[in-house]
Amino acid sequence: MGAITDWSKVYTYAKEWIKEAGSTIRNSFSTELMIQSKSSPDDLVTNMDRETEQYFISKINNTFPEHRILGEEGFGDNVTSLEGVVWIIDPIDGTMNFVHQQRNFAISIGIYEDGIGKIGFIYDVVSDELYHAIKGQGAYFNDEKLPKLEPVKIEEAIIGLNATWVTENRRIDPSVLAPLVKKVRGTRSYGSAAIELAYVATGRLNAYITMRLSPWDFAAGLIIIEEVGGKMTTLQGEPINLVGQNSIFACNASLHKQVIQNYINRDDE
Ligand code: IPD
Ligand code: CA
Ligand code: CA
Repeated sequence: MGAITDWSKVYTYAKEWIKEAGSTIRNSFSTELMIQSKSSPDDLVTNMDRETEQYFISKINNTFPEHRILGEEGFGDNVTSLEGVVWIIDPIDGTMNFVHQQRNFAISIGIYEDGIGKIGFIYDVVSDELYHAIKGQGAYFNDEKLPKLEPVKIEEAIIGLNATWVTENRRIDPSVLAPLVKKVRGTRSYGSAAIELAYVATGRLNAYITMRLSPWDFAAGLIIIEEVGGKMTTLQGEPINLVGQNSIFACNASLHKQVIQNYINRDDE
């Protein structure tokens, strides 16, 4: 049995570190970036992704030595299950936007205890907009409490969806989502899963669909979305595996069942 966690202390430190890391990233715009590609030419990493993750790891290790860290760039621990307190960190979500546009990227941190989401932070660095939640205490956009999401009609919904998923791709037949794209009021693609999940929590998007995300992309978003009464599952409606890759369907709860029944698992198939 570990010691009882002081969540308000964890929250206060995490918020301070995120703001500081954000300011370092903003200041880096005037210096030259070192850009490399990882698995493919569109999978980018920069020195700022690495340095930001290392910054969090050193802060967390010094302040909360018993906590473990799952970080995208691999400087944390080898985390394969979520016993104890685990910080799940994406130092820069939306690296392609960071490199090409210097906007629309975020720091995303979800803090879990024994697999339960406790604290979520998504920080839109350039807009200085912080989306955050402590489990059971509601979600916030900066200092403003976010209201619970009101039901929305599918034909009035805006969904976050990358064009990849309605063209030839390796993960989903493009004809599956095309009728949904036709039905809804509009689609958007921002290039940062964390920001798109934060937008679902604020109601700027009514849903976000993507075929493959890793824990650091969605760990914070899941906590924030659930605090406003939203829903997040795989595209098949199954619970999310927090230590693996998943398809993601995050949405206003009123859309969940009808989208899965009428568009994903259609009876006529
Ligand atoms: C990526 C972004 C992007 C999503 C990719 C992610 P990264 O994260 O969230 O929007 O479509 O699947 O890998 O690599 O910029 O941290
Ligand atoms: Ca990411
Ligand atoms: Ca990243």
